Amino acid sequence: MAAPFDPPTNFETKPHVPPWVPPPATKEPLDWAHLRTIELSLLDSPDPAVVQKLVETAKAAIKEDGFLYLTDYGVSLEQLHRQFSIAQYLHRNISETDKDRLHWNPESGIYSGYKPGFGWRNKNGAVDGILHFNFYKDDFASLDRVPTCIHPFMDEITSFTTYLTESVNRRLLALLSRVLELPDDYLWDNVQSHGPPIAEGYLRHALYLPMLEETKQLGKGLRMHGHCDFGTTTMLFSVPISSLQIWGTDSKWHSVKYNPGALVINIGETLELVSGGHFKATRHRVVAPPEDQMNDERLSIVIFNSSIGELRMEPAYESPLIQREGCIESQGAYKEFKLIRDQGVPVPTNRQWREAHIADSTHPTEAKQHETVVVNGIKMNKKNYLGVNILLPA
Ligand SMILES: [Fe+2]
Repeated sequence: MAAPFDPPTNFETKPHVPPWVPPPATKEPLDWAHLRTIELSLLDSPDPAVVQKLVETAKAAIKEDGFLYLTDYGVSLEQLHRQFSIAQYLHRNISETDKDRLHWNPESGIYSGYKPGFGWRNKNGAVDGILHFNFYKDDFASLDRVPTCIHPFMDEITSFTTYLTESVNRRLLALLSRVLELPDDYLWDNVQSHGPPIAEGYLRHALYLPMLEETKQLGKGLRMHGHCDFGTTTMLFSVPISSLQIWGTDSKWHSVKYNPGALVINIGETLELVSGGHFKATRHRVVAPPEDQMNDERLSIVIFNSSIGELRMEPAYESPLIQREGCIESQGAYKEFKLIRDQGVPVPTNRQWREAHIADSTHPTEAKQHETVVVNGIKMNKKNYLGVNILLPA
């Protein structure tokens, strides 16, 4: 059995952190995505039939939706809410000096540091009401690189992140390896980057403030463009504010419903490539919340797991699933990488791929936007990273 999360509990020695109070879930009848639920503890079941059913459910979820709910993964709701309280504390208490000193620079290819509620790249941009702090491994390694107000809580943030990456993600990758009919540690050993607490990925504490009218106008109600994640798995803690939408096989956007305590997992492009297109890196975006949540803040904690940077992704041809069924040629990133490979040109390394994504990222409120084209009646953003064409619903 996997050990549950066992965080530091030396709260009396630290400043008081006001508890995060989850805002009420929306009562509006949104067009919900019907995501499957994986109860991760069942992976340890002594009953092979239970485990097999779990593998089958995971297979259907990542093939059809690219998204799933993960429950019973070892973190209690109380432990999770403590992390949200710390994230809220960061955004309430970060000093002006730290905001300036730790300002992020996406053009460097990494999101490390602080993003204020205006300007995606620089301090002169439009108000977007999105505040981030992103922790990469170097930020965990030096207190100088994180806001002073959270120094007393770095032990808790670090142990939480380590549990999520080294226990939860490792077990999730074991399940996904089984879908490929490979040994449990295949994806962990061959694809996932290592090194606690976050390896080559990052942790994000994000706060979406209620949208100002001018922000709504500028971004046409969008808070984040439709995109696919580039890493292995993204672990997003389900939150009450219903702003996340995913692109369905019916070519429509569907909202992701609040599931208290659950992790919303999505597959990144690296796993789409390794799986030969059997796993789906699904497009998703962030939009203005429904009317009854318009005045609420959306606090969000996300862990972006990343692959080994030096690898150039190839399908795992030793997978019996791939040997039996071949690769899925129609799939997004898989298809585009194959076009490059077929020309005899080396595909980008995972690090080049993710850094190109980040350096080229844009926000809906910015003047700089990607070229748009209409494909089958749907408006798409067109990008080209390192010779690989990408089309995403605008
Ligand atoms: Fe994303």
